[in-house]
Amino acid sequence: MTNLSHEVNTKILGTGIYLPEKIMTNFDLEKIVDTNDQWIYERTGIKSRRISSTEGGEFPTDMAEKASWKALQAAGLEPNDIDMIIFASVTPDQKLPNSASLLQQKLGITNKCASLDIAVACSGFVYGMNMANSFIKTGMAKKILVVGSEMLSTEVDWTDRSICILFGDGCGVAIVGQAEEGEASKIHATHLGSDGSGKEFFNQPVGGAIEPITETHLKERTHFMRMKGGEMFKVATRTLADNARVVLERSGKTLDDVDWIVPHQANIRIIETTAKLLGAPMEKMIVNIQDYGNTSAATVPIAFHEAIQDGRIKRGDLVLFDAFGAGLTFGATLLTY
Ligand code: ACO
Repeated sequence: MTNLSHEVNTKILGTGIYLPEKIMTNFDLEKIVDTNDQWIYERTGIKSRRISSTEGGEFPTDMAEKASWKALQAAGLEPNDIDMIIFASVTPDQKLPNSASLLQQKLGITNKCASLDIAVACSGFVYGMNMANSFIKTGMAKKILVVGSEMLSTEVDWTDRSICILFGDGCGVAIVGQAEEGEASKIHATHLGSDGSGKEFFNQPVGGAIEPITETHLKERTHFMRMKGGEMFKVATRTLADNARVVLERSGKTLDDVDWIVPHQANIRIIETTAKLLGAPMEKMIVNIQDYGNTSAATVPIAFHEAIQDGRIKRGDLVLFDAFGAGLTFGATLLTY
């Protein structure tokens, strides 16, 4: 039984990432579609992205397995210490069974822990973190593996320059558990939401129950993701700024208290505009979009992990996760690492 006599705080115990070996640069893209490095870099901040092998070993649960071993090692845990897996992805290995269950088996977890998938696009990892926080605080679980793993390269139309330049593949994970009494680590405030009226801005209607993929879709290439870039851009900046304000207000903290903002990496101009709207210096924003593009649910945990590894984010720092995605889903987490 969990002792709930004192306040239970959630701590990130360990993180891990996996990025596919294949690097696709803007110059490589120039050979596929009518684009150029200067346009892509100036409009998006992206220089290259990673592309998963379709031969095997880099599908979403493969990447998640590799990232999870690193996180388990960082946390000093064994696979069977995990008592819940939350797997965020809109590009699962297969329709059934769910990715979290596949990952449970790959990691050799035999304790039959709860294993659930969430498909809320780019907000997926933040949704997972906030859900995990609730499970930890109520004592329903003690060690939760939260995963954001995506293979978007199979869902973009590589003949459409307006979209294929933006996305990449990758995975980031975090293991969360209870902080020891007296430790500073804590999730101070969470925020989750969605606005279904924005469904036309970013979607992939073909391939579901209403419209299964047919020969015609394949011929006309209408089964891929579709995005209204300009509309998404406007919503994104407003949403990221609002998210941040909500968690700051809920926690009674100010932007000055925040050491690092880890925003969803969709476009450097979205990140810059968000910083401006908030009045935050760009030095506080963790940015790695130049290397990986938009990896949807994986951007926040990858950027977070890299900033821990290179020494920017340290224990005791106040960190803000801030995301938005198709749906339009959105969410933020304010935590002391
Ligand atoms: N290379 C060269 N030219 C291009 C390319 C390209 N890859 N793509 C578009 N162009 C052209 C267009 O055809 C257009 O030409 P025209 O003026 O002759 O018509 C011109 O460049 C400008 O196109 P815009 O679409 O207006 O370019 P914009 O500055 O809006 O940038 C972009 C487009 C990068 C997609 C931007 O709108 C954006 O980043 N939007 C948000 C994306 C986003 O939020 N994604 C996240 C989705 S949610 C999630 O993460 C899951």
